[in-house]
Amino acid sequence: MKDQLDFIAGRIEKYIEDTRKITATPGEGVTRLPFTLESKRAVHYLEAEMKKLGLRVTEDASGAIIGVLDGSSPERIMIGSHYDSVEHGGAYDGMAGILCGLEIAAYYIRNNIVPPYTLEIAGLNDEEGDRFGGGYLSSKAFLGKWSTNELKEYVDKNGFSYYDAMILYGYDPNHLIRAERPRKGWKGYLEIHIEQGPIMEDNNVEIGIVESIVAIQRYYITLIGKADHAGTQPMNSRSDAVMAAIDIINQMHRYVLDHEGMVGTVGEIHVYPNEINIVPEKITFSIDVRSVHQEWLDECIKQINDALKSKEEAGFAYEIKPTLINTVTQMKKEWSLALEESAERLGFSKMRINSGAGHDAAIIGKEVNTAMLFVSSVGGRSHIPEEYSDERDLAKAVLVAIDFINHMS
Ligand code: GLV
Ligand code: MN
Ligand code: MN
Repeated sequence: MKDQLDFIAGRIEKYIEDTRKITATPGEGVTRLPFTLESKRAVHYLEAEMKKLGLRVTEDASGAIIGVLDGSSPERIMIGSHYDSVEHGGAYDGMAGILCGLEIAAYYIRNNIVPPYTLEIAGLNDEEGDRFGGGYLSSKAFLGKWSTNELKEYVDKNGFSYYDAMILYGYDPNHLIRAERPRKGWKGYLEIHIEQGPIMEDNNVEIGIVESIVAIQRYYITLIGKADHAGTQPMNSRSDAVMAAIDIINQMHRYVLDHEGMVGTVGEIHVYPNEINIVPEKITFSIDVRSVHQEWLDECIKQINDALKSKEEAGFAYEIKPTLINTVTQMKKEWSLALEESAERLGFSKMRINSGAGHDAAIIGKEVNTAMLFVSSVGGRSHIPEEYSDERDLAKAVLVAIDFINHMS
């Protein structure tokens, strides 16, 4: 087994080093936003590697790349994750799961074994939502959840919508509906992913078996006040959009700190006119709040809305625009149990874990049997250039997945 682990780990390492280079920001982490040159290059790389293995490859209308290995049953198990990254992110988030999928297929091919089910190794597009604010483009498209109008509503910093960006990159947004996958014969979805937090490392565990994925709500809030001279306008007659935003942000921050395990982030802020000596007229900022308790999320957002209304009474105009509303997703219990048994059979230490990060599995798992395996993140850190997981740990997840597939009824 040690030789096999080393062999698979070596192959994953090579893949990771190759794909790390597909970035808009060489030397400053991985930046691979959807519908960019980098995402196209990632698709080409995955397509080439899938073809080298002998998989039957298709690219769907969402930009997902899927390599098929026929099994003795036509029922399909999809094994995938996303190939996009956040800006200045790491080489493992998402991509590692696709590369593990390739290694699962490679194992069967190398050993001349027909898998018991047809395997679809999938690289999904735009899970992160970093460019357009929402994300889960392919996973929602698999379930037929996009309308053409919605594609026009998600807009990037330069004013390009999903709809525009798709056209620019040679995809037809009106065809996105074609990416919907037949539920009949779709046995399930398995995603291998790095943990992105410290829990597995703290517990010194090799395999994480995900039980649930957190609920997430994301919004863009715009507050409009009044621009004035920074030196002459007295404090009591200003409508300073930044000062108003600070109150809203503090409100969110206090709520989150008061609720165990809840998290809230303001990761993006745009100020207009963004000048040192002008009272800011307008601010747009993002809010990303997460909890496993739906009622806490709802209450937090209600309090933010109340706070915005009181700003309106004080003379500000505002807009609050949701870009993502995900409820908690439970992984399929029987599959999690079976993954646990596989880890045990192979002698790997394991633990149950909840995911605070969003995943394509959170979308697909609402309608299709879904399970996730986590691999420890060194230092518990992710969405940063230093993100690292040991390729031997990724190889262990590959072996657990193969055992799981082989024992699946
Ligand atoms: C994706 O990684 C997210 O959880 O934001
Ligand atoms: Mn991520
Ligand atoms: Mn991810």
